[in-house]
Amino acid sequence: YLLFLNILFIVCACTTKPPVESPGSVTTDTVITRYSEPYRPAFHFSPDHNWMNDPNGLLFYEGEYHLFYQYNPFGNKWGHMSWGHAVSNDLLHWEHLPVAIAEYIDKASGDSTMIFSGSAVADVNNTSGFFPKDSGGIVAIYTSHIHKNNQQLTQHQSIAYSADRGRAFTRYENNPVLDKKLKDFRDPKVFWYAPEKKWVMSVVIPDKFKAQFYTSKNLKEWTLLSEFGPLGDTAKIWECPDLVEVPLLDDSSKKKWVLFISNSHPQGPTYVGMQYFVGNFDGKKFTPENPTQYPLYLEYGKDFYAAVTFNNIPQKDGRTILLGWANNWAYGQDIPTSSWRSAMTLPREVYLKNTPQGYRIVQKPVKEIVALREDSVHYTPPGKVFPGKAFEAEYVYTSGTAAKFGLKIITGEDEQTIIGYDKKKEEVFLDRTKSGNVAFHQTFPSVERAPAKLQNGKLKLHVFVDNSIIEVFINDGENVITDQIFPSSAEYSLEQFKEGGEAVTNLRVWKIKSVWLRE
Ligand code: FRU
Repeated sequence: YLLFLNILFIVCACTTKPPVESPGSVTTDTVITRYSEPYRPAFHFSPDHNWMNDPNGLLFYEGEYHLFYQYNPFGNKWGHMSWGHAVSNDLLHWEHLPVAIAEYIDKASGDSTMIFSGSAVADVNNTSGFFPKDSGGIVAIYTSHIHKNNQQLTQHQSIAYSADRGRAFTRYENNPVLDKKLKDFRDPKVFWYAPEKKWVMSVVIPDKFKAQFYTSKNLKEWTLLSEFGPLGDTAKIWECPDLVEVPLLDDSSKKKWVLFISNSHPQGPTYVGMQYFVGNFDGKKFTPENPTQYPLYLEYGKDFYAAVTFNNIPQKDGRTILLGWANNWAYGQDIPTSSWRSAMTLPREVYLKNTPQGYRIVQKPVKEIVALREDSVHYTPPGKVFPGKAFEAEYVYTSGTAAKFGLKIITGEDEQTIIGYDKKKEEVFLDRTKSGNVAFHQTFPSVERAPAKLQNGKLKLHVFVDNSIIEVFINDGENVITDQIFPSSAEYSLEQFKEGGEAVTNLRVWKIKSVWLRE
């Protein structure tokens, strides 16, 4: 019996050992956390452990949503970039899978190739010829970032394919498939352009503030179609382009083309942020409407970047779904979380709203999120609500004389995050300067400001609080503020405030279930 226990102990000790922290041997990710660590989001995606940045290869394929992401298998800062992988049936409950495409080292040259951001397509007609006759599979298109002794040599576009629903990928033997001999050339987003039965890739030359569009019949040979830019915000390099059709809010059977670009924040280039262009794509060229209206910003929070949309969402669904990285390069590698670093935003449905100024993006959390609401609903309490650390609040201001009003998330004696409206400035603000641990980086304490007009005297705030992530959808998603906070308290409370007069409001609060607890 003792011998048996001994053997059992040895077997357990071997199988539960943590991943080896050295390049060369990527271990299969065992789930080693319980998702109850301080700051761990309950209903936002975060990697089981280690560093994550951009979402990559967002794809719906054979009933599963795929989320690949920039991942360091060896530590919780940026490095050894590889594609992490998770799958979901509802965009909210994710199952972690092993690293899909790993960094590798060329034995002959000693060059190391990191797998930078890119996309994935469902090659259902086997245009690439990678799959057995009459079958298809997933093809990933990514930037191979070649470096030696930490010196960046070049970036070009490569592909890898999987015949088993993204579980295992094979790198194409004739990579790269697109090489312009540029040091910076990255983040290919490929989609199927149905009218001409061809693939189209958007990709950027970051330091030239340019997007380029290429086309291919087989994903292996690419021809230049056109270029776009510089236009709008050029205060910071351009990354992660995404050219995609977005439905109109008042008639989702009609669509327009939008080009999303990750670059600078509306408050200036200390922080990264995102802009977008609305226009038409004729299969060759993207033409923005009203070129003088740019820049248009997608977000006013500090923690929203590298957002791209899912490929291959079923037509009948009619949705365009966007997912972003909820962190900022300014301080992202120093946020006080462990052993993981970074989360994704909520997946968002995007639409175009026709306004007197032109078409504008509106964002809404995916409708699936409603299923995570717990039964207990709190209505308009004067005083405090104690909704836990994962909750949703709908706050509606209908009238009043107050100069400022809104919500406070109280997380300690002198700790609070304020989400408010400033009538004079006509803006929603989120003040995280006293939100808890703000000292880990000098650029972290900040106040975000999003333009917002009262509509018939009313203001709506749809707020999601998830431990260290706050997302505020303003007036049905006309603008959004996404911010991280790192409070010290184990309990959060929510309270309304008003300054300089009265405010007539309505508040509903729901606790939100964790998507991670497996009991
Ligand atoms: C954006 C980015 C991409 C690049 C990736 C590397 O955050 O800089 O341009 O492919 O991250 O991890």
